[in-house]
Amino acid sequence: MSNNIEGKVVVITGASSGLGEAAARHLAEQGATVVLGARRADRINELAVQINAAGGKALALQTDVTDPAQVQALVDAAVAQFGRIDVMLNNAGLMPHSPLDRREIDDWNREIDVNIKGVLYGIAAALPYMERQKSGHIINTSSVAGHKVGVNNAVYSATKHAVRVISEGLRQEVKPYGLRTTIISPGAVATELVESITEPDVKAGIQSFYDENAISPDSFARCVAFAISQPEDVDINEILFRPTSQAL
Ligand SMILES: NC(=O)c1ccc[n+]([C@@H]2O[C@H](COP(=O)([O-])OP(=O)(O)OC[C@H]3O[C@@H](n4cnc5c(N)ncnc54)[C@H](OP(=O)(O)O)[C@@H]3O)[C@@H](O)[C@H]2O)c1
Repeated sequence: MSNNIEGKVVVITGASSGLGEAAARHLAEQGATVVLGARRADRINELAVQINAAGGKALALQTDVTDPAQVQALVDAAVAQFGRIDVMLNNAGLMPHSPLDRREIDDWNREIDVNIKGVLYGIAAALPYMERQKSGHIINTSSVAGHKVGVNNAVYSATKHAVRVISEGLRQEVKPYGLRTTIISPGAVATELVESITEPDVKAGIQSFYDENAISPDSFARCVAFAISQPEDVDINEILFRPTSQAL
């Protein structure tokens, strides 16, 4: 019986570490062809080598999601090499938490550029192909912070709320083309994300919370696989998950 993952061409942004890397490995094991984008070319090239050596199919292309031309080039490369794009996983992101009165305007701009505009550029690149194919699946990584706002995370939370709003608008618009859309909103997962926090005191607080609570990135990979593996007439629109120990 088909798992509805095997043979699919899946483009993943933010594939060089954490959730994107885990999703790439898991989907490749299930027979997907994975196309990996991130800025750290050495990381995604090595990941592609490992996946291909294990009998999977992977292609890596250095991509900065703040540049729409680079995101387009990533998707175009997937289609040129493998003939189609079945899933676009817009996952690249960063989380430079800080109180607003510290006026970390560069951090605000970076997270808006990556977390919101990067997702929009991924949609812009994949959508024309998927509409022509009359099939496809766009998965966007939001967060628990896309549901709740707290101290120090106003801007990050705003970006992740934006991802959910954009995804819901997209969901409604792509009905005529038979496309599927999924928002995945994780709680604390052990990745390199905390490294993107530039304020040392804020970072220390989040790090200790993650040290106590964060779960394996495989949790995210399984959610992605679950959404993709459903029969084509089943559209999993949102998955919100947390470590069992996470209260907020
Ligand atoms: N871990 C969690 O607890 C958690 C919870 C909720 C939501 N999330 C979300 O999950 C997503 C993945 O984060 P993660 O936890 O896996 O953290 P991570 O290990 O730091 O991974 C972040 C990924 O985003 C990529 N990235 C950052 N800026 C980029 C840019 N300009 N262009 C292309 N790629 C870029 C990084 O690659 P390069 O640096 O190589 O470019 C890296 O592959 C993010 O959207 C994050 O907000 C994570």
